Amino acid sequence: MNHDYAVDVEDLTKRFGRFTAVDHIDFSVRRGEIFGFLGANGAGKTTTIRMLCGILLPSDGKGSVAGYSIMTQSERIKQVIGYMSQRFSLYSDLTVRENMEFFGGTYGLKNQKLKNRIERVTDLYGIGDFLDQLTGDIPLGWKQRVGLASATLHDPQILFLDEPTSGVDPSARRQFWQTIYQLARGSGTTIFVTTHYLEEAEYCDRAAIMHKGTILDLDTPASLKSRYSKSNMEDVFVHVIREHEGELTV
Ligand SMILES: Nc1ncnc2c1ncn2[C@@H]1O[C@H](COP(=O)(O)OP(=O)(O)OP(=O)(O)O)[C@@H](O)[C@H]1O
Ligand SMILES: [Mg+2]
Repeated sequence: MNHDYAVDVEDLTKRFGRFTAVDHIDFSVRRGEIFGFLGANGAGKTTTIRMLCGILLPSDGKGSVAGYSIMTQSERIKQVIGYMSQRFSLYSDLTVRENMEFFGGTYGLKNQKLKNRIERVTDLYGIGDFLDQLTGDIPLGWKQRVGLASATLHDPQILFLDEPTSGVDPSARRQFWQTIYQLARGSGTTIFVTTHYLEEAEYCDRAAIMHKGTILDLDTPASLKSRYSKSNMEDVFVHVIREHEGELTV
């Protein structure tokens, strides 16, 4: 395992009974990189993230996150990562501030430090107007920002975002990505993000195309488009999947 990488996995595999959801995948994510995981429903994106966050034990293979083993050091990993899950859980009957206080507490932040961190993310994500509103009452795009604020209260080295923009309107999605950029470029946070909005791959430094548990290709968006002679990532994705399925049926 190379500790210069934020994430480094080899032969990572997860089986649920006889079904293989993640099938011997290998990849590394550099520190400070925005790394995208693209794939249709059921490709294995969430399962991969859950193994990297130390929530789910791999069936096979090995991996490290921030230099810690995902097999044996999941408690260490949880201290240095932020995770915004696919169906992220903010309490709708708490105010935005109360949600952040709650999440900050789970990261061990308290008193003045917690207060300072809440102030900082409130400014960073521009959620000041919503602080004392019930979270259930604010628009989805803003909820996603509060989710992101809550996941970054403890200033994580690596941020895992599982379909963070799902269901959000295009303008809120663009704003969300600008914030991701600031985090990666400004604070050096490594971003591991899954999406099925293929045009969002353009925002990533590198993107992996995942299909039925395997990674079919992984490269910068520019190289992927050039190698497949396509003008956008959606065409690249469709081509790569078709080529793979075609080979399987020959
Ligand atoms: N706990 C589980 N038990 C059995 N099968 C599971 C379990 N979790 C996931 N799966 C299966 O593993 C496969 C991959 O699921 P996963 O949630 O990782 O995909 P995904 O790429 O995140 O999809 P989506 O885009 O829908 O979120 C799916 O076929 C899913 O039904
Ligand atoms: Mg998922």
